[in-house]
Amino acid sequence: MQRRNSLLGLIFAAFLFGVPHATMAGHLEPFKLVPVSDVNPQTPEKIELGKKLFFDRRLSGDGTMSCATCHIPDLAFTDGQEISFSYPTTKNWRNAPTLINVAFFRNLFHDGRVTSLEDQALFPVMSSFEMNLNLDYLEEKLRVVQEYVDAFRKIFGGAITRERVAMAIASFERTLVSVNAPIDRYLKGDKSALSADAIKGYEIFTGKGKCIECHYGVNLSDDKFHALHIQENPDHQKDPRITATRRFVAKVYHYEDYANLSEDPGRYLITKDNKDWKAFRTPTLREVAKTAPYMHNGILATLDEVIDFFDGGGGQGNTAIKPINLNTEEKKYLKVFLIEAMSGEDLKLTYPVIP
Ligand code: HEC
Ligand code: HEC
Repeated sequence: MQRRNSLLGLIFAAFLFGVPHATMAGHLEPFKLVPVSDVNPQTPEKIELGKKLFFDRRLSGDGTMSCATCHIPDLAFTDGQEISFSYPTTKNWRNAPTLINVAFFRNLFHDGRVTSLEDQALFPVMSSFEMNLNLDYLEEKLRVVQEYVDAFRKIFGGAITRERVAMAIASFERTLVSVNAPIDRYLKGDKSALSADAIKGYEIFTGKGKCIECHYGVNLSDDKFHALHIQENPDHQKDPRITATRRFVAKVYHYEDYANLSEDPGRYLITKDNKDWKAFRTPTLREVAKTAPYMHNGILATLDEVIDFFDGGGGQGNTAIKPINLNTEEKKYLKVFLIEAMSGEDLKLTYPVIP
């Protein structure tokens, strides 16, 4: 067992060694190792345009919401809610994930239903319970703003289209990266990057706690789906607006019995494979101190609750994880590690002037 753990430790280190370190000249400088799309190369102008669009409330039906409403820079691009904000009179059904290092994921959303940032970007815009804007109307709304018309012409050599809006936003998102986090410095050999308690936490993370079996690599995530059987929130199950949202999404994804669905099917919604019932993608642990509440439904309010959840062997009936039996001290070290090691430098994002 010991041998296996040290092997995992090595894999962990090997992955992290590949991570670029913070010699970013300002947040606009695209990270060299961030995977970029061949058809959507990064340029400073495109990134700046994407940033404007990300913060522009024109992208919502009633003009109240931008991407940043639910992905708030100061909260590592989450919104601090159990389930995310939603369009007036509706209710969302899932927790807003951080966008830090999101470019490193192949599977996006908690259930992995899209696989590129370009494909993802228009989902919240058209979603009835998020920004609720018709995409034909989005194009016309932007085409009457001269500054946008000029910028799209300069950057894309043509008119404003929904696809180009998505490309610009995706380019901006690829600049949202973890900068110089202590875990990276520590694994590069700077032993002073972590406190003594955090190092003990690192040992638990990679050893007894087995966290590293799923949380490894650049994003501290295997980018795969696991059914930990996290409990449903009974309040959410009782809320008719959340029920409507859940059933609506299930219907769109051809879930046959959507009208009777009273819980989140997770990855099953996409694959219809029983092994994916209530499986969710392993989230990144980057900036985890700022991304509470935790899990796809925000049911765990604090890192203490998360650690207790894993320590107790996960949710009822799950076969993915087993009880760990950490003592109080060990839990404390693990928490110190998560908070200290995963917190990178401030991105020093400047807010754009919206045309
Ligand atoms: C009303 C709140 C809300 C708004 C507005 C919103 N998002 Fe999100 N975002 C969410 C939630 C909730 C999820 C998770 C949804 C799921 O997994 O089904 C999410 C997921 C994502 C993801 C996937 C992250 C991951 O780790 O897989 C990306 C990328 C993203 N949003 C970008 C955007 C962009 C770009 C915009 C603006 C065009 C935007 N969001 C607007 C709430 C919001
Ligand atoms: C079998 C794979 C697996 C193992 C082992 C595992 N995790 Fe996770 N972890 C996940 C998945 C999957 C989720 C998301 C579940 C969800 O959203 O419903 C998650 C969520 C989390 C979150 C919440 C992050 C957020 O932003 O919501 C934290 C923190 C976390 N894990 C820490 C740990 C720690 C600490 C350990 C070891 C004690 C551990 N994990 C072991 C798969 C795993």
